[in-house]
Amino acid sequence: SQTALAAAIIGYLLGSIPFGLVLTRMAGLGDVRNIGSGNIGATNVLRTGNKGLAAATLLLDAFKGTVAVLIASHFFGEDAGVLAGFAAFLGHIFPIWIGFKGGKGVATYLGVLLGLAPFMALIFAIVWLVIAFTTRYSSLAALVATLVIPVALWILGADKIAAAMALMTVISWYKHRANIARLTAGTETKIGAKG
Ligand code: G3P
Repeated sequence: SQTALAAAIIGYLLGSIPFGLVLTRMAGLGDVRNIGSGNIGATNVLRTGNKGLAAATLLLDAFKGTVAVLIASHFFGEDAGVLAGFAAFLGHIFPIWIGFKGGKGVATYLGVLLGLAPFMALIFAIVWLVIAFTTRYSSLAALVATLVIPVALWILGADKIAAAMALMTVISWYKHRANIARLTAGTETKIGAKG
């Protein structure tokens, strides 16, 4: 339908703004894709040594997902919110502006979740923080948190949101395949290390 199309377009366009790239460029730090893992996300922005910029990247990459969900659900209803959130996630992963080579979707996943099921966003944050603080691996924290969420939503009976988040989990895991290989080999970079 037309409303679904509108929700998807709004979500995709919001999601495709690569805040990590924009902020590091504005700060005169060059192209974040040339450092560390080459990713445009907050974890890699942190490898520039600028914690404030990394925090801003996390917040903005998350909130673009939240905003997409809230705008679409406000104007077009709940289902459109789910669609817009999924589209925002896809926008972050495949941004039209930078050759469809986007990030791994973790912050945007959290932001979409905040819009769709705020309590689950809290669960995500707790799981992420526990794994990140105990292991110092941002990627592992994301892999575990994105696995827990669809299962928890499904157990609670939020089937539609569970399905959307499960699809995002699969895509994010695929985007983490180099991280998974490094984790397996014991060569993954820890949080705080320059990489
Ligand atoms: O948010 C992405 C994170 O899970 C991994 O980032 O830069 O270490 O590949 P990075």
